[in-house]
Amino acid sequence: MGLKANWSYPTAIRFGEGRISELAEACAVAGITRPLLVTDKGLSNLPVTGTTLEIMRAAGLGGAMFSDVDPNPNETNLSDGIAAYKAGNHDGVVAFGGGSGLDLGKLIALMAGQTVSVWDLEDIGDWWTRADAAAIAPIVAVPTTAGTGSEVGRAGVLTNSETRMKKIIFHPKILPAVVICDPVLTVGMPPVITAGTGMDAFAHCLEAYCSPHYHPMSQGIALEGMRIVKDNLLRAYQDGADLQARAEMMSAAAMGATAFQKGLGAIHALSHPIGAVHHTHHGTTNAVVMRPVLAFNRPAIEQRIGLVSAYLGISGGFDGFYDYVGELCADLSIPENLAALGIANPDLDALTEMALKDPSCGGNPIEMTFENTRSLFQTCL
Ligand SMILES: [Fe+2]
Repeated sequence: MGLKANWSYPTAIRFGEGRISELAEACAVAGITRPLLVTDKGLSNLPVTGTTLEIMRAAGLGGAMFSDVDPNPNETNLSDGIAAYKAGNHDGVVAFGGGSGLDLGKLIALMAGQTVSVWDLEDIGDWWTRADAAAIAPIVAVPTTAGTGSEVGRAGVLTNSETRMKKIIFHPKILPAVVICDPVLTVGMPPVITAGTGMDAFAHCLEAYCSPHYHPMSQGIALEGMRIVKDNLLRAYQDGADLQARAEMMSAAAMGATAFQKGLGAIHALSHPIGAVHHTHHGTTNAVVMRPVLAFNRPAIEQRIGLVSAYLGISGGFDGFYDYVGELCADLSIPENLAALGIANPDLDALTEMALKDPSCGGNPIEMTFENTRSLFQTCL
């Protein structure tokens, strides 16, 4: 397989099969001598994690792991992680896993040396300047799924367990210093997670592409990201050992997260509260609401989606693209609607209020109001 490269946009990425073997080197480049590997509960016992800890041990970096991380990490996971970090006298974090392991790892590195509360560093205006930048520990990120793209992002999502709101915590210095994208680590992902995480990457590209903000670099990355998902997600879903497809999907995930600095939209604004209240899978939820959101935004994006269709080789402009998304979801066994996803009797008023407070709202090409958003939820059911 010929896909191997070194990239420095947006950060240093060591991309390719088997490159997890370079973890010790990556830690050295980041200035880490006593790393704490942070991952989630589900991954902690899997062979990929054991192998990675073994690479750390063999290089004299110890084999310390913190894995008490929930699927939607909260402030208790964070304070436990900071306690483990301090108790082990660590000097950096290896953030390992899907969105939860990567995000919590980044937030432990951010918060271990701070005196301010993590909620004071929410992604609002210049709040990030409240943090002591010199006290932020270095991070090496190692994704084991292909969806979130958090390995190339400067934020982490943390759920407030009291309000159940997901908050985006931002600081430019939590962009990982080095990323290892090794597609072999994603081979064991079950098909349902391959589908959900892959559709998250697709949603990042689609929403970034449709966002009205000006960012031509993101625009190009988002477009090519959608093309890569179209050509590879189904292959990776049908044959998890297809390393070429796995590698391509890892690229698409990093591209989606690079592109969404341009903005997200209603897919994520709806999906975040649904996930926070009903504990559904983030990417799968995005896939379920994708077509209703496309129809909702149609007056603003019809022409632009026509260009995507042309580039992706889909005939029929907007309608063709809409149908393609439906076929892809069906092929990936994505539930038809929110009811099929297992959501019964949702409190639509509360979900709508939460959606309108979600920062993703700002990137939606059609203004979201209480009325149109509530009726959009209704359609998704
Ligand atoms: Fe997402």
